[in-house]
Amino acid sequence: MARAPLVTVVGSSFVGLTTALALAHHGTRCRLLDTDAAKVEAIQGGRAPFEEPGVQAALKRHLKSGRVTATASIPDAYRGATHVMICVGTPPAWDGSQDLRFIKAVARSVGEEIHGRMRGGYLTAIVKSTVIPGTTAGLVRGEIESASGRRAGRDFGLAANPEFLREGTALHDALHPDRVVVGGIDKRSADEALRLFRWSKAPVVRTDPTTAEAVKYAANAFLATKVSFANEFANYCAEVGVDWYTVADAIGHDDRIGRKFLNAGVGFGGSCFPKDLKAITTAARAAGRPLEIAQAALEVNGRQPSEVTRVILRELGGLERKRIALLGLAFKPGTDDVRESRALLIAAEVIEGGAEVVGFDPLVKDQFARALALQHRANFTRVETIEEAVEGADAVVVQTEADAFRSLDPRTVKRRARHALVLDGRRVLDPQRFARAGVDYWGVGVGMVRAAGGRKRA
Ligand code: UDX
Repeated sequence: MARAPLVTVVGSSFVGLTTALALAHHGTRCRLLDTDAAKVEAIQGGRAPFEEPGVQAALKRHLKSGRVTATASIPDAYRGATHVMICVGTPPAWDGSQDLRFIKAVARSVGEEIHGRMRGGYLTAIVKSTVIPGTTAGLVRGEIESASGRRAGRDFGLAANPEFLREGTALHDALHPDRVVVGGIDKRSADEALRLFRWSKAPVVRTDPTTAEAVKYAANAFLATKVSFANEFANYCAEVGVDWYTVADAIGHDDRIGRKFLNAGVGFGGSCFPKDLKAITTAARAAGRPLEIAQAALEVNGRQPSEVTRVILRELGGLERKRIALLGLAFKPGTDDVRESRALLIAAEVIEGGAEVVGFDPLVKDQFARALALQHRANFTRVETIEEAVEGADAVVVQTEADAFRSLDPRTVKRRARHALVLDGRRVLDPQRFARAGVDYWGVGVGMVRAAGGRKRA
């Protein structure tokens, strides 16, 4: 009978820890390995190194059950493991390609572990990190084979198993995947990887590692393209007096299209879409088959935050000494993650024009100011309430669809702001309600709805 799996999860950040907790939930023992001793110590003490609903409680539960442990020691981490799941970061390099330094180092250490195993102890390495198609069968295989002196598919297993976790719902997504994609270098590798997901009722896609890697990029590129398509079309709709959201609802009824990811706004951000699109478009160009649609999706996304600046400029006649309230600093609601947040671009643009920005987000603390360019920080202030942000503002910009912003009271804007002007970057406010209360409203895909009640074009 096969040994019960013991999984070493390398990398204890968002993907690694969440995956370990999901496997542990289904009875699999997981050992987290991280070179960051402070992170390991936090995890051992029951503190998750990031904000994510349910993760903290699940961590406490599985530390107690003994199914999850954490270590910074490589030999301790690999001892007796049946699987190694590679969940380390693949940050962008200076030229937009992927920096595979961490993947390479882990592959080497897995190879050394395999080399040290005298007999038996078959180990399957599973790449969960998002890597350019060909990385598992190329670099990872090469590193493990050269460090171990053994052959993939004969002496050890190797598979790619991409994740599709969204921030804010990561644990739920890991526990209820809508598909399990496993690309094995051979049959045994795929069987071994799939052994970890026997509990899942989701459709299984069994394929080779390079195809599995491509699935992840195709998914993210398609979703990001859908958002950029919505944004570009929404800009056009606003121009000709059409409400994009009505159009989106209508086309969304066509199940070939679907309503999801058609919400127009100030663009997509986060740790995945922008980075993954840059990486795959760079790789595709290098392969001589450019992904022009994905490239265009990125370009549209880069321009979309400027819609806000354009309207502020037009409405206020300039940005010099203006005070802009920025509601929503994270890249989306329910997270404190500011990576690639459109709020950073909006803030930088209006500050460059001479304005000051007062920002509020229910979850974000000082990380936003730290992510701003040095020369912009003096013109940014973070406050603790919506009211403080709106106080004396010349324009109020809503950048995420956090619940707190959905319930923004037009009377608060009317009473506290210097100019009663709201820019709805996520279409979460009722334009008519604001117009009735005497506030000029502008929304992505809607255009301008004037305080007087009359509707003019943006
Ligand atoms: C995404 C993918 O959904 C996930 O499968 C992958 O593993 C990682 O990348 P995440 O970055 O957490 O997850 O966020 P998601 O909820 O997908 O949103 C991405 C961005 O698109 C956000 O900035 C969001 O505001 C934006 N978006 C999303 C829109 O502007 N409109 C939409 O209709 C949907």
